[in-house]
Amino acid sequence: MKVLSTIAEITAYTAELKKAGKTIGLVPTMGALHEGHLTLMRAARAANDVVIASVFVNPIQFGPNEDYDKYPRMFEADCAKLESVNVDAVFHPDPAEMYPQGFCTYVNVDGDFTRKLCGASRPGHFRGVATVVTRLMNLSRADRAYFGQKDAQQVCVIKRFVNDLNIPVEVVMVPINREDSGLARSSRNAYLSDTEKQQALCLSRSLRKAEAAFAGGEKNVAALLKIVRDELAAEPAADVEYVELYDFPTLEPIETVEKESLMAMAVRIGKTRLIDNIIIG
Ligand code: PAF
Repeated sequence: MKVLSTIAEITAYTAELKKAGKTIGLVPTMGALHEGHLTLMRAARAANDVVIASVFVNPIQFGPNEDYDKYPRMFEADCAKLESVNVDAVFHPDPAEMYPQGFCTYVNVDGDFTRKLCGASRPGHFRGVATVVTRLMNLSRADRAYFGQKDAQQVCVIKRFVNDLNIPVEVVMVPINREDSGLARSSRNAYLSDTEKQQALCLSRSLRKAEAAFAGGEKNVAALLKIVRDELAAEPAADVEYVELYDFPTLEPIETVEKESLMAMAVRIGKTRLIDNIIIG
């Protein structure tokens, strides 16, 4: 697997690939890779000639009081995992390479839907994501880019700017990968103690309850939200930031579930903020 650290290196690499007519799949990550990321890599592997992963903890998508400094970094272990699923190259730049002196151009998706759910408590987060993902798409010259459903609002934002800016990349959303317990895989699960991991099961448990109620015929949004909120309230360690149910992918408010809709939540367990979701309908 090639390790590319500079913009010059990735640009030269992808220019050669394009000259040779290869299709390229991009999987952007912030590292601390788990099985969920590897599912994205496998999806990219199955549909493209070449797979490029990026491992970059993007400073501009973290707020001043968030976990940028303590975000887990383990590049060697990440490389071993990427090699195990036959990734061809990893782009792993320094922050100074991506944001040199004078950098001042941002991609800002300005729809109301960016200000709800995680956008409400993380101002500037999606601007940081959209800016880095645009640049990774440009640098990798990807035909397809892969993102996990766990960050469903991120997928909505990415699909929006790819469409609005006519970026010729197919955005592929891959379903959430869960531990046997139901816990959605996340690099931030590394912050949880064993007790907290047990407490965190209330997220997926509450979503499963709503899913079962929907399968049983309940389509009313208020009723479905109540089922989830009641289940979360039964776990004293759960500090709920939001639970919402919106149309997917517009994130417009709805009263009944008539088509694909996103039930999404952010919940703090101890000091760790976790997100989870399901798509129903
Ligand atoms: O989902 C993530 O890990 C990040 O937001 C992404 C897409 C790699 C951009 O930094």
